[in-house]
Amino acid sequence: MKKVILVTGANRGIGKEICKQLAVLDHDVILTARDERKAKESGEAIGLNCSPVQLDVSDERSVKKASRWVQEHYGRLDVLINNAGIIAEKSLVESDIDEIQKIMDVNFYGPIRMNKYFLPLLRESAEARIINMSSGMGAYSNMKTGYAGYRLSKAGMNAQTILLSKELADSNISVNAMSPGWVKTDMGGQEAPRTVEQGADTAVWLATADGIPSGGFYRDREIIEW
Ligand SMILES: NC(=O)c1ccc[n+]([C@@H]2O[C@H](COP(=O)([O-])OP(=O)(O)OC[C@H]3O[C@@H](n4cnc5c(N)ncnc54)[C@H](OP(=O)(O)O)[C@@H]3O)[C@@H](O)[C@H]2O)c1
Repeated sequence: MKKVILVTGANRGIGKEICKQLAVLDHDVILTARDERKAKESGEAIGLNCSPVQLDVSDERSVKKASRWVQEHYGRLDVLINNAGIIAEKSLVESDIDEIQKIMDVNFYGPIRMNKYFLPLLRESAEARIINMSSGMGAYSNMKTGYAGYRLSKAGMNAQTILLSKELADSNISVNAMSPGWVKTDMGGQEAPRTVEQGADTAVWLATADGIPSGGFYRDREIIEW
C-alpha cells in the first residue's frame, strides 16, 4: 500500500537516503529541511514521489505550517520519521547549559513538537507509525563519557518513545526508536564504518514492513537494549 511518509532533516545524510529508498518503493515522500532551498534541491535530486517542504523542528510555527501543508495535500500522514539531529562533543562537566539546551531543542523537543502537531494527521491514517532516529549513544545500557548533550537528548528521545507508545497503545499509531549505527555522514565523519544505505535500512523497514510491534528500540532490524 502506498504510504504518505514525512522525514525531518532530510536534505543530507541518513534522512536524504531514507527519502530516496522510500521514493524508489513508490511511497509519497515529504522531504523536509529547515532551509527551503535545500529541501527543493534534495527533492529534485531524488525526483518522482518526493515533495519538498520547509520544516525546522526547533520552530513551532514552522512545524505547524508544515502540518497544514500535509493536511491540505494529503489529509493524513501514515509515517513520521523524526530524523533531524545535531551533536556536540563536550562532556557534561565542560558543557555550558545553553549548549545543552540547543541540542535538546532539536533532538528532544523537536520530536515532541512534531508528534504534537502531526498527531491529528496520524490519527487519520488506517495504520500509522512514528519512528524516532535515536542513537546507541543514548542507551542507558551503553552510557559513556563525552557528547553529553547529545547522549541526554537521545536518552530523552528513547523515554519519549516508551511513553508515547504506551499512551497510544489503544490507537492506530505505533512508536519505535532506532539506532542507525555509526554512519559516514557530516555528523558521523569519514571514519565511520557504515554507509548511508546501511544507516537508512532499519528506518525504511520500520516504515514499511508488516507486523512490527510498538515500543521497541532497533538496530539492523533487531531489538536492542534501551
Ligand atoms: N551518523 C551517525 O553515525 C549517527 C549515529 C547515530 C544516530 N544518528 C542520528 O541520525 C540522524 C541523522 O544523522 P546524520 O548522520 O544524517 O546527520 P547529518 O548528516 O549531520 O544531518 C543532520 C540533518 O538534520 C538537519 N537538522 C539539524 N537541525 C535541524 C532543525 N532544527 N530542523 C530540521 N532539520 C535539522 C540538518 O539540516 P541542515 O543541513 O540544515 O543543518 C541535516 O539535514 C540524527 O538524528 C543523528 O543523531 C546518526
